Amino acid sequence: MAIRKIGVVGCGLMGGGIAQTCAQSGYETVVREVNQALLDKGLARIYDAWDMMAGKGKLSQEQVEENRSRLHGTLNMEDFAGCDLVIEAVIENMEEKLRLFPALDHILKPSALLLTNTSSLNVTQMGAVTKRPDRVCGLHFFNPAPVMKLVEIVRTISTSDETIENVRQFALSLGKTPVLAKDTAGFIVNFLLIPYLLAAVRMLENGQASRDDIDTAMKLGCGYPMGPFTLLDYVGLDTTMWAAEAIYDEYKDPLYAPPPLLRRMVQSGMYGKKSGQGFYSYQ
Ligand code: 3HC
Repeated sequence: MAIRKIGVVGCGLMGGGIAQTCAQSGYETVVREVNQALLDKGLARIYDAWDMMAGKGKLSQEQVEENRSRLHGTLNMEDFAGCDLVIEAVIENMEEKLRLFPALDHILKPSALLLTNTSSLNVTQMGAVTKRPDRVCGLHFFNPAPVMKLVEIVRTISTSDETIENVRQFALSLGKTPVLAKDTAGFIVNFLLIPYLLAAVRMLENGQASRDDIDTAMKLGCGYPMGPFTLLDYVGLDTTMWAAEAIYDEYKDPLYAPPPLLRRMVQSGMYGKKSGQGFYSYQ
């Protein structure tokens, strides 16, 4: 299947990172937000990243201009009509996704693939509300999407072999290493990562060690690039909590139950780096 034009729904942290990755890999890319302010903010983050890469000599000024010309921001979902592949990266809320998928299904051409970047929600259910469940699967990127090499391809019971192969080729064309996961909550990475992050929050709640010592311990003791609190702030406390809740809903395993401190911080708007305050302050 020839994949030339990509649609990305949502230009937040993940949608923006995915749109950036697609455009800089040579794809015509349309990215959609719900209002102009969010679209401007998302596009500005991508332009800044390209300027930063140019400043480091990783891109020429000409390549920056080419990338920019391939990336089109829109507020209009109809602009996805000519896309060969669309990746949904909106808020991790199932009701929202179940509204979005039939709408996209209606707009997209019959051959188009419809993918979700969900980190832990049920992809089968999203496919089931479309007329193309064989062409629906997950393509889960990791933050920061342009840098992290992994993508999880999430196969539902309805996804066809052809779709999986086309998405695998697409992932390789983005310079990513794909792994295949079944559509079970958390897939591979979050099934393993979330209990670790939640355990760190519980350790802090219980007074077992300080925030800084826990972060230092995991960085220097295990060679992780970031300690758990730095990573929680980086990924977003809200995103982590939603992922934990989705996995908890599926298995009812207390390992995945969000600890009270995490819930209180999210309720207080402390989402981490993106809101200026999480376990650390970014003011
Ligand atoms: N676009 C392009 N390049 C970027 C970029 C962007 N948006 N952001 C960073 N980079 C580049 C930098 O230019 C730099 O390149 P260089 O090494 O050639 O100079 C490189 O990435 C590293 O960035 P920095 O120098 O700014 O910072 P670090 O060396 O400290 O690395 C990090 C930052 C890559 C984020 C590293 O700390 C890391 O790997 N952290 C762990 C991240 C992680 O675990 N992510 C997964 C989270 S789980 C998830 O997302 C799943 C979800 O569902 C919850």
